[in-house]
Amino acid sequence: MIVIGSDHTGIELKKNIIKHLQENNIDVIDVTNFEDQSGDDYPDIAYIISKSVLENNCLGIAICGTGIGISIACNKVNGIRAAVCTEKYMAQMTRMDNDANILCLGARLGNTDALEIVDTFIKTDFAGGRHQRRVDKISKIEKCEKDGVIYGDSI
Ligand code: RB5
Repeated sequence: MIVIGSDHTGIELKKNIIKHLQENNIDVIDVTNFEDQSGDDYPDIAYIISKSVLENNCLGIAICGTGIGISIACNKVNGIRAAVCTEKYMAQMTRMDNDANILCLGARLGNTDALEIVDTFIKTDFAGGRHQRRVDKISKIEKCEKDGVIYGDSI
């Protein structure tokens, strides 16, 4: 299952991705299917998507104008590793190396291969091995920040 959401800039791209996923028999939950999204703010959207990804233990897709603002906000939620990807290679590597759980896309970039980026992100597995150690260190930074402990002291 895939969780998807966008701010007001990404509604059309979001609908195209939902249609594409459904055509490929992939379950998708649109967590930002609101009546009126004209005044929404990407941090609020990022939080909704992030919590849903964690609750459902699945991958997510988050869209704003550039993909940047929503990625910054998603990455404030513990357990989220959100990556802006503008090409397939980035989507592949962020799954393999970083175990990214949210793909962030920019609706105003005019990216014509957004669907290919989505497919690559969804189909690529985390490589584990030495990359697990590095992802564990990301989690450790989160924990240190939460506990008010300096990360360098705890490596
Ligand atoms: C909204 O105008 C825009 O700032 C937002 O979609 C996003 O691009 C922020 O990073």
